[in-house]
Amino acid sequence: MKGLLGAAALSLAVSDVSAHYIFQQLTTGGVKHAVYQYIRKNTNYNSPVTDLTSNDLRCNVGATGAGTDTVTVRAGDSFTFTTDTPVYHQGPTSIYMSKAPGSASDYDGSGGWFKIKDWGADFSSGQATWTLASDYTATIPECIPPGDYLLRIQQLGIHNPWPAGIPQFYISCAQITVTGGGSANPGPTVSIPGAFKETDPGYTVNIYNNFHNYTVPGPAVFTCNGSGGNNGGGSNPVTTTTTTTTRPSTSTAQSQPSSSPTSPSSCTVAKWGQCGGQGYSGCTVCAAGSTCQKTNDYYSQCL
Ligand SMILES: *[C@@H]1O[C@H](CO)[C@@H](O)[C@H](O)[C@H]1NC(C)=O
Ligand SMILES: *[C@@H]1O[C@H](CO)[C@@H](O)[C@H](O)[C@H]1NC(C)=O
Repeated sequence: MKGLLGAAALSLAVSDVSAHYIFQQLTTGGVKHAVYQYIRKNTNYNSPVTDLTSNDLRCNVGATGAGTDTVTVRAGDSFTFTTDTPVYHQGPTSIYMSKAPGSASDYDGSGGWFKIKDWGADFSSGQATWTLASDYTATIPECIPPGDYLLRIQQLGIHNPWPAGIPQFYISCAQITVTGGGSANPGPTVSIPGAFKETDPGYTVNIYNNFHNYTVPGPAVFTCNGSGGNNGGGSNPVTTTTTTTTRPSTSTAQSQPSSSPTSPSSCTVAKWGQCGGQGYSGCTVCAAGSTCQKTNDYYSQCL
């Protein structure tokens, strides 16, 4: 989309800290929509946001609702963010939502944000691997109230460790209208900026030095059944108990024999989430298709 001149100037300007992936396409209802049709277009030539106090952390630089359409998505349905170039800087990816007081296109993201998905680090091979991909698929929680939301994806490049380097936020927001849903009060919520600090271990960590565990920055992942994601969860003010029989037909295959050693429980840890280790008291049941694997004495993970 950007001119060759602009791209060349950019790569000269930012050289080895260049950043050339952006979440620019949304898929809903099985339809991959046009580039920037439902995603707010940034104006920063794919440079990451690095200022922890900037409002640009919400939806990226210059990304307003003007000229962006809003797409209808059913609660419980999956969606996918797609990049122009696969993500290649090491670090976690998360998805957040914030309910608009009115229309999504008018909303500046100044309200509360809750997190619905984390892709953290996988240490099962003995060293960290990350979900570096073009497509990031998640599900709109089936219990959240209907209405307009900003749907925000964030990949945090931590390849230049703090404080010598500055972690990089790659961000896009889609505008969605959620239909169906329920009456849950999703949380915990955070403000952006404000949610990410120079004291977060997931921000300050040096991934090249004695790197054995990782906590994705931001709040605990909200789920409708109260089970946590990567951050252990546990404090979600869920007001309803939802049925577990309304999975979208597009959900991932569950045909694998259950290999979870744990008895049935009301919680599930998403793939990549922590499921055990010294001092861990959270959920130990891994989502279908993953099993709890010990990384070391203080960390086991659903893989
Ligand atoms: C690793 O785990 C320790 C102990 O729980 C914690 O203090 C530290 O912040 C974690 N590191 C990261 C990068 O999450
Ligand atoms: C709880 O919610 C998560 C995320 O929506 C889901 O993956 C998991 O299957 C649910 N667990 C149960 C027991 O319904």
